[in-house]
Amino acid sequence: MNVQDKLAIITGSAQGLGKAFAVELLKAGAYVCLSDVNSEIGEKSMNELGERFGKEKVFFIKCDVLNKDDIVSLYEDCEKIFGKTVDIFCNNAGINHTPGWKLCMDIDIMAVMECTEYVLDKMDMSKGGKGGLIVNTASLAGIGPGVSREAASYFVAKHGVVALTRTLGTDNYLRETGVKVQCICPAFAQTAIIQNIDQYSAFSAVVKKFGVMTPEYVADAFIKLVTRCKTGDAIVVLNDVPPFIYQDYSREWTMVLAAGAKLFNSAFGVEIFTPRLQMVFLLAIFLAVHLLLYIIF
Ligand SMILES: NC(=O)c1ccc[n+]([C@@H]2O[C@H](COP(=O)([O-])OP(=O)(O)OC[C@H]3O[C@@H](n4cnc5c(N)ncnc54)[C@H](O)[C@@H]3O)[C@@H](O)[C@H]2O)c1
Repeated sequence: MNVQDKLAIITGSAQGLGKAFAVELLKAGAYVCLSDVNSEIGEKSMNELGERFGKEKVFFIKCDVLNKDDIVSLYEDCEKIFGKTVDIFCNNAGINHTPGWKLCMDIDIMAVMECTEYVLDKMDMSKGGKGGLIVNTASLAGIGPGVSREAASYFVAKHGVVALTRTLGTDNYLRETGVKVQCICPAFAQTAIIQNIDQYSAFSAVVKKFGVMTPEYVADAFIKLVTRCKTGDAIVVLNDVPPFIYQDYSREWTMVLAAGAKLFNSAFGVEIFTPRLQMVFLLAIFLAVHLLLYIIF
């Protein structure tokens, strides 16, 4: 999407990744409505970005994503203030698991669903909207395996965000509604959310492996996602690695495993097609292809 003159709302953007995403959108010529439950930092950021990009380009509206009325007011007030319809909505507000699994799930997935349901109804062309783009801030935690019981809710929530993006991010849905849905999956970035990370050795190990990125580094991948990638794309952002799209091959992989399970059952009476047998199956396919190529050429 060309974001020039487009209007974007970013939840949880008083600071951290959301604020860095706002900077990239503003640099590309968009109008940005910052929003956050923390209005003190949010208003500071609005003033700072207003000085840099022009006061008419950026505004702050307080919004607690746990509160449906706040979400509705955010959207409606934003359109009134800027005098145009919203084109881009970023579900970015988030917390880590330390305040407890329920709050983590409420903010990191339930509120994302709530905002998405509301925004889809507003943007959906088949309901009188003009289409648009929803960008979800997921995480590498939404793709990889969980690292500890304490953080289980964060991993579950972020997997949900990736699943939501892929469910809605289909070409058919885009044709029907005019709404693109994407997500960004960063590893660790230096923001307030990881302040208390040292308490958790499992997380520390992940930090050691991938390093910690700056919010600006993640935001560079964010703007590439928004301006150059297609609906359903989940972009992974790792330190010192060019961003890449993490394609979901689970459907194709399921078909391969189903074929293997059937074959091993009919040929050897295997009842459960375990990972070890799957490796044998893949090796057999590899050798068969190799042999075929040898015979042909
Ligand atoms: N920093 C990382 O390492 C990292 C990695 C992957 C994904 N993420 C995700 O990035 C997003 C942004 O986090 P961040 O790293 O910038 O952290 P951050 O703490 O700097 O920013 C999160 C913002 O969300 C706001 N927020 C919290 N609860 C809210 C609520 N109920 N309503 C509205 N706003 C609320 C906070 O006030 C804060 O300003 C989160 O979804 C997070 O899960 C972060």
